[in-house]
Amino acid sequence: GSFLLPQQKGRNRPMSEHKTFYITTPIYYPSDKLHIGHSYTTVACDALARFKRMQGYDVMFLTGTDEHGQKIEKCAEEAQVTPKEYVDGVVETILRLWDKMEISYDDFIRTTELRHIKRVQNIFMKMYENGDIYKGKYEGWYCTPCESYWPESQLVDGKCPDCGREVKKMSEDAYFFRLSKYSDALLDNFRNNPDFLQPEARRNEMISFVEQGLEDLCISRSTFDWGIPVPIDEEHVIYVWLDALSNYITALGYSEDDALYKKYWPVDVHLVGKEIVRFHSIIWPAMLMSLKEPLPKQVLGHGWLLIDGGKMSKSKGNVVDPEILIDRYGIDALKYFLLREYTFGQDGIYTNEIMLKRLNYDLANDLGNLLSRTVSMIMKYNDGVVPEATTKDEIDEELQELATTAGNRVEDKMDTFQFNMALDEIWAIVRRANKYIDEKTPWILAKDPERKAELDTVLRNLVEALRIVSILIIPYMHTTSERMREQLGLADVEAKWEDAFTFYQMDGCKVQKGEVLFPRLDIEKELEALSQIRQEKVATKNKK
Ligand code: ME8
Ligand code: MG
Repeated sequence: GSFLLPQQKGRNRPMSEHKTFYITTPIYYPSDKLHIGHSYTTVACDALARFKRMQGYDVMFLTGTDEHGQKIEKCAEEAQVTPKEYVDGVVETILRLWDKMEISYDDFIRTTELRHIKRVQNIFMKMYENGDIYKGKYEGWYCTPCESYWPESQLVDGKCPDCGREVKKMSEDAYFFRLSKYSDALLDNFRNNPDFLQPEARRNEMISFVEQGLEDLCISRSTFDWGIPVPIDEEHVIYVWLDALSNYITALGYSEDDALYKKYWPVDVHLVGKEIVRFHSIIWPAMLMSLKEPLPKQVLGHGWLLIDGGKMSKSKGNVVDPEILIDRYGIDALKYFLLREYTFGQDGIYTNEIMLKRLNYDLANDLGNLLSRTVSMIMKYNDGVVPEATTKDEIDEELQELATTAGNRVEDKMDTFQFNMALDEIWAIVRRANKYIDEKTPWILAKDPERKAELDTVLRNLVEALRIVSILIIPYMHTTSERMREQLGLADVEAKWEDAFTFYQMDGCKVQKGEVLFPRLDIEKELEALSQIRQEKVATKNKK
């Protein structure tokens, strides 16, 4: 009957055509293999990129590697290879990792590529010709692991304020960038664009940092060679941060071939960890001001994954290897865990137990069970054919309403980078649907032939809810979506974002029993296995 035509509220916003969306990760140091901290940033960018693509945006998603500097030079020395050989080896592991994680980047930039080197030199020359670069003498406290000079006033107990390690007094001839000249303009940028830097707490920190007074920035080094030569002085190489930050525009062809630059710049989002917010919200905008180019629309500084109370980091070696987790639990499980567990912007603790519990509760129990129960019931009660719904009560209405409006809430959460809340909105459908089964007790309806219509409605509503879930999860777990859609009989139907806002689209579908989506894990056994793997790794590392 017509009363069954869904009272669709539909989507709150139109599809976005011809709009561009440019998003970047930091370019990581290939000093060692990456860990789940780097995976976290990259997975978040990937989810945003996929989300925007589904909404019709023309997306440019850039990642890459930051390959110059003293730290890398040292790593290579220790490994007794050239710096280029060293980074080539590590970059290979990084590319393999992103491949394995199905990261949908559009370009991968290495700072040792000729395209980058030439364009960074052009950038240096433009800033020099604008009068923003001069030669002087640098004296200060240098932290090698952070590639960062600190004024004495900012040291904490005489150590690096970022990483807490030893700093050393250095003095050298160097080129400087007139960063101080841009203090007022930087403050204006923070004040006039409240969204420029998120979260709010970072913004306040940065404003007070600028208010304390900016010193000019030393942008060249003569104490080592592994870097891009200063075009006007072969004694010097360009400071690694000027080199690195430029990647966001050199990758677009800036200064040589401007087509992509014109199309995508200014960037929509630079996603970075909180320790490098200072570089992205102060130094980088000042460089762009010097170049007379538009500033990034937004910088997002997320929190850290902590392990044993400290930041997980390559240089500390207290890392969790994402490949081990992927091999055991699958890509989608890892991606789901990273995005669901942590509140974007805040630090969060990693333990294997927290991760395993998430996988069991949310993936195996909630989602996995819902799919397998639904498919089994349709097989058993209706020969696998998705039935029609011809009845409706309040509970049915509630499920339909929740499912067909979830997309709007997901969009709102994604706009504010609340990945965990976006996933929670989707899981609200899953939880409601599981509860719906318990309320409707289809196994009892099935015993009474007179209640066949009610039973059909229950089955139909469940598959429709699952269909919507299979669309909404695509940005975060597209493989799981495909596996679900195969079982739901939707393998040949394109998953379109708009279709998450309507019910009753599955006429004539035939479900099909498939593999369990996420097997239930024996947590004790897994904890043991993971600690075993870890010990073996430590042992082989010590042998080397
Ligand atoms: O800083 N928790 O590279 P990098 C969360 N080359 N995220 C983490 C993390 C953790 N424990 N550890 C690392 C550099 N990350 C520069 C960037 S950009 C122009 C140059 C992530 O290899 C996080 O995104 O030290 C952090 O900002 C980044 O990795 C640092 O990577
Ligand atoms: Mg770092």
